[in-house]
Amino acid sequence: MLNFSFHNPTKIHFGENQIQLIAGEIPTHAKVLVIYGGGSIKQNGVYDQVVNALAEHTWFEFSGIEPNPKYATLMKAQAIIQQEGIDYLLAVGGGSVVDGAKFIAAAALYEGEDPWDILAKQHPVKQALPIGVVLTLPATGSESNIGSVVTRDGHKLPFQSPFVRPQFAVLDPKVTLSLSERQISNGVVDAFVHTLEQYLTYSVNGKVQDRFAEGLLQTLIEEGPKALQPATKEDLDIRANIMWSATMALNGLIGSGVPQDWSTHMIGHELTGRFGIDHARTLSIILPAVMKVKREQKREKLVQFAERVWHLSEGSDELKIDKAIELTEAFFQRMGVPTRLSEVDVTQEDIDGLIEKLEQHGMTQLGEHGDITLDVSRTIYEKAL
Ligand code: NZQ
Ligand code: ZN
Repeated sequence: MLNFSFHNPTKIHFGENQIQLIAGEIPTHAKVLVIYGGGSIKQNGVYDQVVNALAEHTWFEFSGIEPNPKYATLMKAQAIIQQEGIDYLLAVGGGSVVDGAKFIAAAALYEGEDPWDILAKQHPVKQALPIGVVLTLPATGSESNIGSVVTRDGHKLPFQSPFVRPQFAVLDPKVTLSLSERQISNGVVDAFVHTLEQYLTYSVNGKVQDRFAEGLLQTLIEEGPKALQPATKEDLDIRANIMWSATMALNGLIGSGVPQDWSTHMIGHELTGRFGIDHARTLSIILPAVMKVKREQKREKLVQFAERVWHLSEGSDELKIDKAIELTEAFFQRMGVPTRLSEVDVTQEDIDGLIEKLEQHGMTQLGEHGDITLDVSRTIYEKAL
């Protein structure tokens, strides 16, 4: 196992009717900015629950954060923060709202000239406003991690800082009942790929991490499709298992002490930046291609994945790997997400432009060995056609 330091201080309140607990988590003297997206929280009752919980607080609101949050939108929040002396952010929404709040929090206290440098030049964040979260879409793990992804003019860029890790997050599975099938699928697939990107590398004998990861993968495979079926769609236990899996998949636990490979995410981000394809759908297209192209380097873990997650015990290692990749694709198809670029109208002619963007963004040595060069990324895009 590799050396690591693990520290995740985000307090989680999990379960039905927990939103009211935000009242006790946010200091009573705070000036709170409630941040949300396009309005789903007004239709499903979450907004009303937040308003009730904040009855004793002084609060303001900032809405309109779009999926794949835009830099220009996020910068608009700075005016109200200055004007009202905001000193606490409450993000109410999915990963985009939480990521957006993280960038707003960092930009508000940024001492450099241009907050865009936090993303474009990876300037370190030295302070940020405190953040609390009411999560409405289980997927990204953003509610208890240090990452955020922001888009500007087709450039989709991540930053990380412990200063933007939420202080607390409320996870009420009931609020996920209003999600569309598309968003349920996206969430399950995103969490599945997060888990695999911290698992499908090479073995360092991290047994705890491996078995946690395998447990999450199996839970998502079992419960994901049930959340789409009419008979089980409203089952809160299923939603709870999905929600907790998504948080655990990217809260730092399973990735501690093991190699990681975020190539699927980085190669996928260019598809969202260029064509606006949903984040999870870029992953379901790219991941199978990464498995195929990096098969040799990932051989040992691919076999373990086949045996322990897909319970494939018969035949040669080669056959097990083939079957595991096939079953992974079939799982994505069952979740209703694409597994080929042709399904989202991206063609061979588009690949040059995508490679150019990867280069521009410094994504030239991806993967657990840093050996996914631009040439290898090209092969991956081609394999995914
Ligand atoms: O904006 P509203 O009206 O709230 O609607 C949203 C949005 O249209 C809707 N929604 C959310 N909760 C709902 C709901 N609709 C009905 N009922 C509910 N309970 O869902 C739509 C998508 O929301 P979004 O927040 O964009 O989805 P998601 O949580 O999948 O977040 C995706 C973003 O997170 C980034 C992605 O790149 C993408 O920008 N990621 C962040 C990560 C992190 N911070 O660690 C890691 C991930 O890999 C990912 O890159
Ligand atoms: Zn993701």
